Amino acid sequence: MRVVSGIQPTGNLHLGNYLGAIKQWVAMQDSMKEGDDCLFFLADLHALTVAIDPKELANNTVEMAAALLASGIDPARSILFNQARVPAHSELTWILNGTARIGWLNRMTQFKDKAGKNREGASIGLYAYPVLMAADVLVYRTTHVPVGEDQKQHLELARDIATKFNTDFGSEVFVLPEPLVSKAAPRIMSLRDGSAKMSKSDPSEASRIHLTDSDDAIAQKLRKAKTDPTELPATMAELADRPEARNLVTIYAALAGTTPADVLAEHQGKGFGQFKPVLADVAIAALGPIRDRMVALLNDRTAVAQALEAGAEKARALAAPTLRAAQDAVGLQI
Ligand code: TYM
Repeated sequence: MRVVSGIQPTGNLHLGNYLGAIKQWVAMQDSMKEGDDCLFFLADLHALTVAIDPKELANNTVEMAAALLASGIDPARSILFNQARVPAHSELTWILNGTARIGWLNRMTQFKDKAGKNREGASIGLYAYPVLMAADVLVYRTTHVPVGEDQKQHLELARDIATKFNTDFGSEVFVLPEPLVSKAAPRIMSLRDGSAKMSKSDPSEASRIHLTDSDDAIAQKLRKAKTDPTELPATMAELADRPEARNLVTIYAALAGTTPADVLAEHQGKGFGQFKPVLADVAIAALGPIRDRMVALLNDRTAVAQALEAGAEKARALAAPTLRAAQDAVGLQI
């Protein structure tokens, strides 16, 4: 089994990223068997697809790496690196650009969301983003990709690209990757709007909990989270049309490592005035230690950067054979 996943170092790492992806990464690392590999990376090349401040990008990359280390990614067991330091990702992307179809990319909902109304003004990178993501995964012959639900469509595209490439060039260069979407937290929603996903780009800071938030900030954001005046029911089915309430129960269960049904069994009949402070305690107990470890790690940024470089060296070695095989398949090596 080879597990690969990435996260954009765009700052604002939030509870959705943590519960939807990172918590699952750590669990996969911890259950790894002999012969398995886990590779996790900061997708700094993907971050170039929207406006960036170069100094901020470098800072965010180190900070995001510290957040992953603080969350439990262990560089002795997982390979942690930044994408730009493994050129095979970019080299394979260009080869795959010959295989990916414009019609396939036109269907990507993330591009439509991110480009908004000004599609003509979006970067080529934003449009071609999923091809780089396919290369990230295919270059390691990845078997499993732990992601939040919003990335599933991109992974289906990666499978389509791999299938077409293998068919066109009569070879088995690529392995088809399986997306693994967290059952506990496939899609954590905004604290201000139960119909929007919790996102780095939401202008409202109150919509998300950052991994760097103080205990007070966590408690305050949860206290102010949008809810409704009705008490908690006995079953999740009864929360079907109460998205904000459902989101808070989901967050509680994912943080506490239990199920939403258990949370409701314990708290049914309570109003949000009672439930929110208990949720805040659970959130602070889970996130506080991560924040404190992250702050400590950032006292030595050079050490974090060195850990990334050591990871990149291992990743380059694992990527090289697939890149070579792809080059061979299309006739690039003479
Ligand atoms: P990114 O940086 O937007 O998010 C990182 C991970 O967090 C998940 N996530 C969520 N999960 C649940 N609820 C939410 N509200 C929520 N918001 C974000 C995302 O699904 C993701 O798993 N394109 C990717 C990064 C990437 C990648 C890859 C991932 C680049 N190459 C190769 C996997 C494999 C992205 O922008 O994720």
